[in-house]
Amino acid sequence: MGYIRFLGHSAFEVEVDGKRIYIDPWLGNPDSPLKVSDVDRADIIVVTHFHGDHAGDAEEIAKKTGAKIVAVYEIASYYEKKGLKAVGMNIGGPADVDGVKILFTPAAHSSEIGVPTGVIILGREAVIYHAGDTGLFSGMELYGRLYKIDYALVPIGGHFTMDPEQAALFVSTFKPRVAVPMHYGTFPVLYGSPDKFREYVRKYSPGTHVVVLRPGEKLEF
Ligand code: NI
Ligand code: MN
Repeated sequence: MGYIRFLGHSAFEVEVDGKRIYIDPWLGNPDSPLKVSDVDRADIIVVTHFHGDHAGDAEEIAKKTGAKIVAVYEIASYYEKKGLKAVGMNIGGPADVDGVKILFTPAAHSSEIGVPTGVIILGREAVIYHAGDTGLFSGMELYGRLYKIDYALVPIGGHFTMDPEQAALFVSTFKPRVAVPMHYGTFPVLYGSPDKFREYVRKYSPGTHVVVLRPGEKLEF
């Protein structure tokens, strides 16, 4: 039994194959139900790219829990130099991180260090794709041919990332079973709405089920 818990913005707590994984843990976001002081256990922290609203509290959580930070090589090196445990990889094939297969995908965005990525966690219980911050691009259809993506977490806020219609078309390229919108509503500039996303997914990717998680809410599998 595992779950995906939304922590606001693009932050998620995932439990899969017995590991507790935080993805883009910016717990300072205005919607987060958790503070760093509430995090009592973490095994792996994934940072998709080096922007404050994603790298967020990775350092503090790693310090507190001893979790390994998994990121592209240059970002991992940044954390290693601070004395933290990190696994540096790159866009490519999966790496085995304490028994969990993790791989980075491209993302069309920017990053203060390294390159921006999305991440696929190839769990035995579930295959989860967190798209990071990205604009619309083609290429995820190839990943969709290789891996059966159960849950896709995709940015819909617009301005810095895809808007709801772009995100729906994006999802149609790899057809996950479930799509969860993220990176919207945190600030007024992130105008994309989950209702619009649902509407467009119905049009572009009718086989995909949209699940909107409120901050703190869990999707269990
Ligand atoms: Ni960003
Ligand atoms: Mn962002």
